[in-house]
Parts: sequence; C-alpha cells; structure tokens
Amino acid sequence: MKILVIGSGGREHAIAWKIKEFSRRYEVFAIPGNGGFTSIGECIKGDISNFGEILNIVNTKKINIIIVGPENPLADGIVDFFETNGYKIFGPNKKAAFFEASKCFAKEFMKKYKIPTADFEITNSFEEGIKIVEKRKGPYVIKYDGLAAGKGVRVIENFEEGKNYLEEIFIKKIFKGEPKVVIEDCLIGKELSYLIFTDTNSYISMVPVKDYKRVDDGDKGSNTGGMGCYSPPSYFNKELEEEIKRKIVEPTLEGLQKENIDYRGVLYFGLMITEKGPYVLEYNVRFGDPETQVILPRMEGDLIEVIESIIEGNLNKVKIKWKEEKSLCVVIASKGYPGDYEKGKEIKNIDKVKDVILFHAGTKKENGKILTDGGRVIGVVGIDKDIKKLRGKVYKAVETIEFEGKHYRKDIGLEK
Ligand SMILES: Nc1ncnc2c1ncn2[C@@H]1O[C@H](COP(=O)(O)OP(=O)(O)O)[C@@H](O)[C@H]1O
Ligand SMILES: [Mg+2]
Repeated sequence: MKILVIGSGGREHAIAWKIKEFSRRYEVFAIPGNGGFTSIGECIKGDISNFGEILNIVNTKKINIIIVGPENPLADGIVDFFETNGYKIFGPNKKAAFFEASKCFAKEFMKKYKIPTADFEITNSFEEGIKIVEKRKGPYVIKYDGLAAGKGVRVIENFEEGKNYLEEIFIKKIFKGEPKVVIEDCLIGKELSYLIFTDTNSYISMVPVKDYKRVDDGDKGSNTGGMGCYSPPSYFNKELEEEIKRKIVEPTLEGLQKENIDYRGVLYFGLMITEKGPYVLEYNVRFGDPETQVILPRMEGDLIEVIESIIEGNLNKVKIKWKEEKSLCVVIASKGYPGDYEKGKEIKNIDKVKDVILFHAGTKKENGKILTDGGRVIGVVGIDKDIKKLRGKVYKAVETIEFEGKHYRKDIGLEK
C-alpha cells in the first residue's frame, strides 16, 4: 500500500515513521517532505496549496491513502477536493476545519454547547473593538479570527497595547483574511494538549502532552511553533481525564452531530487546566507539532488501520493500546529562530546518536549531506519508564548533534 503524507515538518516525519514501524510493506511518500524523510520514503517536490498538482502526483505514484499534516490545506478544502474525486484522504473537510480556521466560530460553538472556555466578545469593527478594550483591565487576550501560524494571539496588559494590536489588525491589516477578533479573559493554569481520533460518532483519546512554546528556559522569550514536549505531563491523572471527556470531548462531539458536521480526522483540544477545571483555549483540526512526535512513539499497532476506519466511519470497531513508557521531545533550532535565521548549515553526528529517534523538520539532503533548512531543525525523541533516564538519553543525543548556531531548551520534562 502506498501512502502520501502532505507536509514537511517533524509531525509528518513522525506519521510516516509510525506507519513504517508497524509494517515495512507500507510505502511512504511526502510532498515536500524533508532531509530525514528521505531515509524512510520518497520526497516529491510540489506546492501543497495546489490541489491539481497533488492530484497528478497521486495518480502517477498510484497513491492509496493521503494523510494531511498542516492546517492550511484542510482549511482550503483539500479533503473535499480529493473525496469528490473518489480518493481516500485523512483529515476533516472544509466545513469541519472551521474549528481551527475561525476562532470566532469555535468560540460561538463552545458557548452554544456549554463547553468551558474563557468569557469572550467578538467584533469585526475597529470602533467596537476600542470600546471593548476601554472597559477591560489587563491581562486579557486578543485573538485574530483566522489562521495566523501561531502569530495571531496576544496577551494584553493595558489599553495602549490593546489599541495597538487592534490597529495592526483592522487598520494596518497585518493578517491576510477578514479582520475580526475574539477578545477574551485571561486564564491562569497549566496548558495541556489533548488529542483524539474521531469519526464524529466515536472517538479514541491519544496520550496527553505538555508542549513548551516559549523559546527560552523557564518559559521566557518569544513564542515559537514549539520547542519540545513530553507525555504524560506530571499534572495529568485519571480524574482530570474523566473531567476532560465529560465536560469537553463528549459535548464537542454531540455539538458536531447536532450541527451536522461530519468530522473525520484528528481533533486537538488546546486546554488550560485551571483551579476550576479544564477550559478550551482553542481547537486544532490536525495532529500537533511537536506533540505528534511524542504521541506516536507511545502508540502500538497500525496507524493505517485507525486512519482507514475513520475514513470509512467505523472507528468504533478499532482499539488502540498505548505504551506505559513516557516520551519526550527536544527541538533543536537554528540560531535566531523564531526570528530570522540562516539556512544551509551542515548537520553533523546524526549517525552517532543512540537510543533515540530523530524526527527531522527544517532539513534537506544535498550531495549526501544533511543541511539545515528551517527554524526548527530536528526533534530528538526518546521513550523510557523513568523520566530522569529519558531526559538523560535525549539530551545526550541533543548535545551530540552539531550545527553552527544550534539552540534548544534545557528544561523539557523538568516539571514537578
Ligand atoms: N484565554 C487565554 N488565557 C491565557 N492564555 C491564553 C489564552 N488564550 C491563549 N492563550 C495563550 O496563547 C497561546 C496561543 O493561543 P491559541 O488559542 O492556542 O492560538 P494559536 O495556537 O492559534 O496561536 C496559548 O497556547 C496560550 O499560551
Ligand atoms: Mg495553540
């Protein structure tokens, strides 16, 4: 069977790795993939926003199943496009992808179905936005409605900051789509990524993850796409999981059914665990990056069986076993990331690391060498029962891998 993964990150590398780990009979392809992907499958050049181009590749390579990694093609309707043409594709359709593509839509949905989320107001007018921030005291949060690659959310401390951000959105129009915002209360607590597989009628929870978004140790510095993560977080337990299912997952699925939204894929709940219990910060409509890099190594069995059953709407017939061991991922980034960074640095000692899995992100293979090709370069992932040993082996590998200007967080998994 031939499987095509759309995307180029560590997430996509991990998806393909998991598929191959179960059976070498699966052949994996990626558009466009990365330097590490070449060791397990074929990378094909292509523009992932051009569905016609992808269709040609799917036909030429006789692909059986397409798996979509990132959110943009989902929001643009890649699943609708391939389904109408009779292909098997994994991910939510355009209507369902609105849960991530519009934060306003997601918030209205949560309000309607009484899913715990921060109190909020929505506006598509600058003047009204100013009136809202005038009466608010910081901290509160302003979120741009549409997809913004993790750059649309700001925690606001005072009126000046609020006004400035509204000006950027409504007047300078720094984001491509319609200017519209959610203005919401700031929640205090610990963040948790909780992902499920679902075909709307039933669901299977994945193992929970704590993601580290800030660039520097101690959660300091700028926001990034994610500098590392581990599973399960120290503050996770059975009671919390039951509460998440009862207050959040199940009401979300009931809401989907009532709204006649046919959701098939991965649904990701970005949660804040507060003193009053879990609250939803946002929904994502796909696997997280780097969450996937720690979730899939803990999964047993055949990911393709799960994916096919979701495409066919038979997820209730499938069971997934998860390993008891913990898993941890440290992302090694290029100098300057998340700001401007240089590319094309040679990555050395990749073949010298032991006892870990390397999921490549911003890398490319050129003349037999692996070069940096992005901000987040490689995710080093380990699995072990003991968190100390786990951190030990992951960081040993992180230190072994060398390229000019590499940087990484040293406190991944150090939670009490
Ligand atoms: N209401 C909130 N209270 C406190 N922090 C928040 C709130 N909403 C978002 N955040 C912070 O901002 C980050 C990004 O927000 P999120 O809604 O996940 O949007 P995106 O991932 O699209 O940027 C969250 O991971 C969290 O750290
Ligand atoms: Mg988020």
